[in-house]
Amino acid sequence: MKISVIGCGYLGAVHAAAMASVGHDVIGVDLDSAKINALSAGRSPIYEPGLPELLTAGIETGRLKFSTDLADARDAHIHFIAVGTPQLQNAGGADLAYVDSAITSLLAHLSDGDVVVGKSTVPVGTAETFREAVEARGARLVWNPEFLREGFAVKDTIEPDRLVYGVADGDTTSVEKLNEVYATAIEAGSPVIVSDFATAELVKVAANAFLATKISFINAMAEIAEVTGADVTKLADAIGHDKRIGRKFLNAGVGFGGGCLPKDIRAFTARAEELGRGESVAFLKEVDAINLRRRERVVELVTEELGGSVFQKKVAVLGLAFKPNSDDVRDSPALDVAVRLNGLGANVVATDPQAMKNARQLHPQLVYGPTDEALADADAVVVVTEWPEYKDLDPAAVHRVVRTPIVVDARNCLDADSWAAAGWEYAGLGRQVKNGREAT
Ligand code: UDX
Repeated sequence: MKISVIGCGYLGAVHAAAMASVGHDVIGVDLDSAKINALSAGRSPIYEPGLPELLTAGIETGRLKFSTDLADARDAHIHFIAVGTPQLQNAGGADLAYVDSAITSLLAHLSDGDVVVGKSTVPVGTAETFREAVEARGARLVWNPEFLREGFAVKDTIEPDRLVYGVADGDTTSVEKLNEVYATAIEAGSPVIVSDFATAELVKVAANAFLATKISFINAMAEIAEVTGADVTKLADAIGHDKRIGRKFLNAGVGFGGGCLPKDIRAFTARAEELGRGESVAFLKEVDAINLRRRERVVELVTEELGGSVFQKKVAVLGLAFKPNSDDVRDSPALDVAVRLNGLGANVVATDPQAMKNARQLHPQLVYGPTDEALADADAVVVVTEWPEYKDLDPAAVHRVVRTPIVVDARNCLDADSWAAAGWEYAGLGRQVKNGREAT
């Protein structure tokens, strides 16, 4: 099928490449010429495992093209809207300016029978506001939310857990066309749920609100564990064995960040308040507050471990991305912790396998360097993103290069016993400090 993808960011670039890989002819459109030049040359502007290979293959077969000119979407019949919906400045709601501009500009290029497919995360009620304008062009509108996780975006796009199509009443034609677009995934077993617009829009924010709540739930338990002598990681293992609860998304730590969870729960709250149903999701404000408190707690823990002040102490911050396998620092708890420690006068040297470039753009005041530079003569080491290279660090070897063997494991991703056995003072979140320094 001939497909256009409007917006080539974390979502759109992957969607375009994935659609080409399953045999469609795809044109990706974005206003950012630097991004389009990179993509056209087969270079991924973001760090996303598997994407470079998919781009190269798509470009080589001639099935994948990129352009800054929306008129190039004219030959396509299915148009995916994959632009961002960031948080409004100084408010919790979603900024729909990019969605509005993408759909409005696309109208002039639509032909009879085309389908416009919204993938962007939007407040419930948004699709309905564009329906009339799209239908006036003889086209149809569908809302088809995306559930991809950064770091696994290629797999999640090619083999989605589920496909959700929000369609206008009785629009079986769009359902058939989307089934054709996603034929490979459907044949491989991805279930399809067809609904109205509102349900499809809500599915996305409800899923992210649930995930955020699950993380904040375990982080709230971590707060209680900290004052009672309990261990939240064992607690998570124990409750996670209950299949109704499940162990996934119960990792207590510095909390969630990224381009989705934080802004989605805020936008959901803002929309519910507009609808007069603020109380239904009032708990999401608590979810947000618990999450933000964890960042403060990490800074507090580093301060406690350093004897009450971080001033002029060298702190190695390992991790800047909001999670491993990503270069994304949007609303990253790791970057936030680095900035806070730096603001308190610590000599922070921050590092990350992929996210230093993006972090430097946002916070040029921080000192960045490779891992060995960060660790050399450090008074404390803070692990804030659970990259495999940090989980695999040899505590004995690191002990030899730091000034003081203090490690704050803000992701509970290190083996506390082996770090303590190697002579470290180990402090996790929601767990008791293990003082291995006394033994050595
Ligand atoms: C999320 C949703 O998972 C995805 O379905 C949706 O389409 C977009 O938002 P993503 O932002 O890529 O995806 O990351 P995710 O893997 O969900 O992690 C979100 C944040 O939660 C990260 O900062 C991660 O470190 C944190 N997290 C996750 C925890 O703190 N504990 C956990 O147990 C799991």
